[in-house]
Amino acid sequence: MESKIVLQDIEKAYGKDAPVIENLNLEIEDGSFTVLLGPSGCGKSTTLRMIAGLEQETGGVLKIDGKDMKEVKPGDRGIAMVFQNYALYPTMTVKENIEFGLKNCKVPKAEREERIKEVSMAVGLEEYLNRKPSALSGGQRQRVALARAMVKKPEVFLMDEPLSNLDAKLRSQLRTDLIELHHKLGSTFVYVTHDQVEAMSMGTHIVLMHKGKIMQQGSPYKIYHDPDNVFTAQFIGTPPMNVLNLNDISHEYCPFAEAAYIGFRPEYAVLLDESAAIPETGLTIPGDIVTHEMLGTETLYKIDTKYGRVQVKIFDEATIVDGRVKIFVPNERLVYFDADEQRLRLGEDKWMQN
Ligand SMILES: Nc1ncnc2c1ncn2[C@@H]1O[C@H](COP(=O)(O)OP(=O)(O)OP(=O)(O)O)[C@@H](O)[C@H]1O
Ligand SMILES: [Mg+2]
Repeated sequence: MESKIVLQDIEKAYGKDAPVIENLNLEIEDGSFTVLLGPSGCGKSTTLRMIAGLEQETGGVLKIDGKDMKEVKPGDRGIAMVFQNYALYPTMTVKENIEFGLKNCKVPKAEREERIKEVSMAVGLEEYLNRKPSALSGGQRQRVALARAMVKKPEVFLMDEPLSNLDAKLRSQLRTDLIELHHKLGSTFVYVTHDQVEAMSMGTHIVLMHKGKIMQQGSPYKIYHDPDNVFTAQFIGTPPMNVLNLNDISHEYCPFAEAAYIGFRPEYAVLLDESAAIPETGLTIPGDIVTHEMLGTETLYKIDTKYGRVQVKIFDEATIVDGRVKIFVPNERLVYFDADEQRLRLGEDKWMQN
């Protein structure tokens, strides 16, 4: 069975308030790991809850597997959902928690046993089946919540910030687990997060939202290297892309008359001595180093320039410099935006060779 999810011109308004989502058009491919990413309040959970059928859209059409979902109840949509605050039944054991939904669906005992064995192995819970949730760590409880969803063999997994209550190490472990799980199950995952690192590391397809609209969608690679607008360029990447107001800067190589902003990623700049010769054509800005932070394999410089603060990442720690420098970015690493903060592109993407 296919489980492609299609949202056509979806609108959602709560009560009489102005819509929080308008004209949302989105296709979630069967078998993809799609991440809905964006700042707080942008409409990620609302979108997910409409897919689940927990929230009714106020306009547009939502289809799963080609079927209009308007009259289809949450329980009949072939989906399972894992929330941030997964509520386990405290008086039941891990096994009973996992089994509960199956009993409700009248799955026969022998098959229940078989499925519980299978999912508890998949999430590494075989040894904990007889424990109560109170005797588990946060990560183990999260796995029970996942197992409980998995055991129903859904075509589609919906997850709303399921890792946000966990510490950094466990989050990173479960990120890897989820990627593996996605490979193993081959089902469609739709995952909500406001954490771009989480999105970039797990997603096969990222949908970046802002104020109820999609700003850009695509592979992690595309969305990082080829942003469509200033919002995307600055939401993705740590630190974000440097974006400077071009009006202030004399940059003779700018290929667009209508360009208003110039941008470059922190790792694509080099630092030169104040008096050094410029190696090739590009953007050169003088500045003063404010701080340098050793981050392991790279050093992050914060540099004050006439045009604002710029961040530069250098991967060769032997070159640590201080004082007054020239920041240089070669032409092919520069991107341009118009006054509406939309990306300007040359026909052949001449400057953007990635
Ligand atoms: N039940 C509700 N009634 C009224 N407004 C709501 C309701 N639920 C959400 N909203 C509003 O809809 C908008 C989108 O909310 P939503 O929960 O989808 O955002 P989100 O992207 O999931 O944010 P977060 O990252 O903080 O969870 C917000 O402005 C929010 O205030
Ligand atoms: Mg939310």
